[in-house]
Amino acid sequence: MASQASQVLVAANRGPLSYALEQDGTLSTRRGGGGLVSGLSAALARQPEALWICAALSDADREAVRRGVSEPGVRMLDIDPGVYDDAYNGIANSVLWFTHHHLYDVPREPAFDAEFRRQWQSYAAYNRAFAEALAEEAAQGASVLVQDYHLALVPGALRELRPDLRISHFTHTPWASSEYLDMLPDDVRRDLLWGMLGADVVGFHTWAWADRFLGCARLDDERGVAEPKSAAESRYVEKSPLGPVRHRRTEVRVFPLGVDGDDLRALAHRPEVDDKLAGLRAEVAGRKTIVRVDRTELSKNILRGLLAYRELLTGHPEWRGAVVHLASAYPSRQDLKVYRDYTAAVAELAQEINAEFGTEDWQPVLVSVKDDFTRSLAAYRLADVALVNPVRDGMNLVAKEIPVVSEAGCALVLSTGAGAYGELREDALTVNPFDVSATAEALHAALSMPAAERAERTKRLAAAATALPPSPWFEAQLAALTPDA
Ligand code: G6P
Repeated sequence: MASQASQVLVAANRGPLSYALEQDGTLSTRRGGGGLVSGLSAALARQPEALWICAALSDADREAVRRGVSEPGVRMLDIDPGVYDDAYNGIANSVLWFTHHHLYDVPREPAFDAEFRRQWQSYAAYNRAFAEALAEEAAQGASVLVQDYHLALVPGALRELRPDLRISHFTHTPWASSEYLDMLPDDVRRDLLWGMLGADVVGFHTWAWADRFLGCARLDDERGVAEPKSAAESRYVEKSPLGPVRHRRTEVRVFPLGVDGDDLRALAHRPEVDDKLAGLRAEVAGRKTIVRVDRTELSKNILRGLLAYRELLTGHPEWRGAVVHLASAYPSRQDLKVYRDYTAAVAELAQEINAEFGTEDWQPVLVSVKDDFTRSLAAYRLADVALVNPVRDGMNLVAKEIPVVSEAGCALVLSTGAGAYGELREDALTVNPFDVSATAEALHAALSMPAAERAERTKRLAAAATALPPSPWFEAQLAALTPDA
C-alpha cells in the first residue's frame, strides 16, 4: 500500500491533465479534454484529498511517469503502449462506444474475430492494471468511483482484491439496447455486465440509460448466466465475501450531471473570450446565429445537422444572408480511420453548402476544427439558436452550457437521443435526430421564435441545466456509497 492511503479515489482513462514534451526536453502540462474531465475536475477541485488514477495516454505522459513527474492528487499508469492502444482504440472506442451509441453499419460490422479476442485480452489487462493500482492506493473502507466504459471490468476485479472497499461505477455514455448488447460474444457481454455489477452502485446520467442497463442485466439473469460460466466469474463467485454474485445487491442510480452556472459565466466573461467574441461579431455582422460545439464524433450527428441547415436555406430562402451557422467540430480520436473520414466529410459538406449558397459578403457556415474552448464560449454568448442533435449521447453537456451563457437567450433544438432530453425537453424544440426535414423546420421555428418566448424558455433551461452542478453531483455519488454515514 502507498505511504498515504486515500479515502476517496477516482479511476478514469483520461486524467485531469496531460503532458507535452517541449523542444528543450522539459515537460509542460495541459488540461485534459471532454465532458467527463470537465465535470470531474470541477468536482475534485473541492476534494483536495482525493486521488485520481488515470492512464498515461501519450509518450509524453509515459515519459512523465518514468521521470517521476506528477501532480498532487494524480497517479498516471504507464501501461504498455500496445496494450493501451488495443484497449482504448480497439475495444473501448471501436467496440464499446459503437455498441452503446448504436453506431455499427450492421451489414458489415461488427465481426468478432481472432483480432478482437486479442484486443479483448488487452482490455482485460488494462482494467486489471487499474484495479491493482486502486487496490494499492486505497485506505481501508475507502470509496472508489470508477468512470466509464473503458473501465467496465474494474469493479468486479477490484472487489476480488479488496472486499473492504465501497465501489461505484458511473457511465458517461448511453447504455446499449439489449439487441445491440447481444451482438457481443456471450462471454464478453457477461464479463461486462458482471464486471459492472461488482460495484455497490452503478450510475448513469439519465433513466433512459439506466433502464437499458437494467433490461440487459435482467435478460442475462433470465438466461441463467448468473450461474458461473467463465473461469473469471467462478473465481469471483467463490471469493466474493458477500456470497454468490447473484445474491449481491447492486443499486442502479441516476445522477444527471449539470453545470455550475457561476463558474461557467465567469469563464465566459474573461477578457480573452471578449476578444474572440468581438472577432465573431464582426464575422457574423448582425445576422442570427445557429451554434453547435462538438468533438468530431460520429454520434454527434454533425452531418445530418448540416443537411438540415442546407434544407433550411433551400426551403426558407428568407434566411439566406440572414443567418450564420457557427459549427465547432474539434478533432477527436483521429487514430481511428472512421473518425478521420467523418471529420473530412464534415469539412466537405460545410464547403459544399458555402459554395452553393455563399455570396460575396455572406459565408453560411463557419466551421472551426480547432480545440478552442475560448472561441466556443464566445459562440455560446452569441447563440440565437443552439443545435444539439446527437443520434445517442450520454448527457450532452453543451445543451446545458449554451442556455446558461447565451446573452440574448437561445432557442435550443435538441434531439430525442441526447441524455439531456429528459431534463430539457419541455423548453427545447425537440427533433428525431434522423429526420433532417423536421430538424430544418425546428431550426426555422427556433430562428423565428419571439424574443420574449426565447428569454422565458432560456431562463427555465438554465435553471434545469444548473440543478446538479459537478460538486453536488460528485458528492451525491459519494453519499450513495456510504448510505449510513
Ligand atoms: C465521452 C466519454 C469520456 C471521454 C470523452 C472524450 O464524454 O464518456 O469518457 O473522455 O468522451 O473522449 P476521449 O476518447 O477523447 O477521451
